[in-house]
Amino acid sequence: MVPNLNSVKKFFVFLGKSVFALLEVMVFAVIPRPQKNVAGEIVLITGSGSGLGRLLALKFARLGSVLVLWDVSQEGNEETCKMAREAGATGVYAYTCDCSRKEEVYRVADQVKKEVGDVSILINNAGIVTGKKFLDCPDELMEKSFDVNFKAHLWTYKAFLPAMIANDHGHLVCISSSAGLIGVNGLADYCASKFAAFGFAESVFMETFAKKQNGIKTTIVCPFFIKTGMFDGCTTGCPSLLPILEPEYAVRKIVDAILQEKPYLYMPRFIYFIVFLKSFLPLKLGMLLAEYMGVFNSMDSFSGHKKKD
Ligand SMILES: NC(=O)c1ccc[n+]([C@@H]2O[C@H](COP(=O)([O-])OP(=O)(O)OC[C@H]3O[C@@H](n4cnc5c(N)ncnc54)[C@H](O)[C@@H]3O)[C@@H](O)[C@H]2O)c1
Repeated sequence: MVPNLNSVKKFFVFLGKSVFALLEVMVFAVIPRPQKNVAGEIVLITGSGSGLGRLLALKFARLGSVLVLWDVSQEGNEETCKMAREAGATGVYAYTCDCSRKEEVYRVADQVKKEVGDVSILINNAGIVTGKKFLDCPDELMEKSFDVNFKAHLWTYKAFLPAMIANDHGHLVCISSSAGLIGVNGLADYCASKFAAFGFAESVFMETFAKKQNGIKTTIVCPFFIKTGMFDGCTTGCPSLLPILEPEYAVRKIVDAILQEKPYLYMPRFIYFIVFLKSFLPLKLGMLLAEYMGVFNSMDSFSGHKKKD
């Protein structure tokens, strides 16, 4: 069969662009990517009342962004607001919002649009973990995991993406998890919600890419355990390759990834290798590796956040 001229041309265009893309990757492996300026950008962070959300707020405050802080905890959020002002932020707007409630997300989003303007960087960070084995986990808690860790992302995208598209300018950040890439025993509802968040963010990324909406960027973040309190008591069987991360380190990497417009950030780096191995390693070898890495026992002594007195 003789290939027609169009398919030959299409193939060589594809080849040329691929070589160019590969060269770009090689260049940026050696020299750091340029970082974008986020001064004056309106950055919305969900779950800003503690942990990563709070540290992200402080980073963006120092970078001169206008902050919109959402948390279900008014107390925690006000504390972050105060800290962001002390860190030099000029525009900080704190809203109490339960992201698990669709109507509340839409109502507060409308308020933000009127009072602050169009959000240009949306960081879906709010998250919860039940830490229970699947059959021990009450239905309501599993539903809540989905509402906060995944469904809230649908509603915030619906609220803020249209203006980003209209302005051809915006950045969607999804804080998923390494548990959104690999199933973990004792974390069934959490993993499922984080896989969903990952799949959703990646699909919308594909949609904007296919529509050539080049001004819309996406960053999907998949960290291993971080010392914020959310996974207190959890362990790693291999601290040299899979260390429990320091929050300041994790946040520095997240902000760098956003500023460099990286689509994916897995941390620690070994997670990239695990995902690669998972795609071809025979199951028995995979299970032996998981056992060696302490995956099956990582949740055994989970306590999570300590309750305040
Ligand atoms: N800590 C880790 O080990 C780890 C690892 C991988 C991914 N993550 C993800 O990182 C994100 C941040 O986690 P963190 O470690 O900072 O935890 P954290 O518990 O310190 O912070 C979570 C914040 O989300 C808020 N929140 C909870 N439910 C909410 C709701 N319904 N509406 C609005 N806000 C709500 C909480 O009040 C809290 O301020 C989460 O999405 C989490 O799943 C954390």
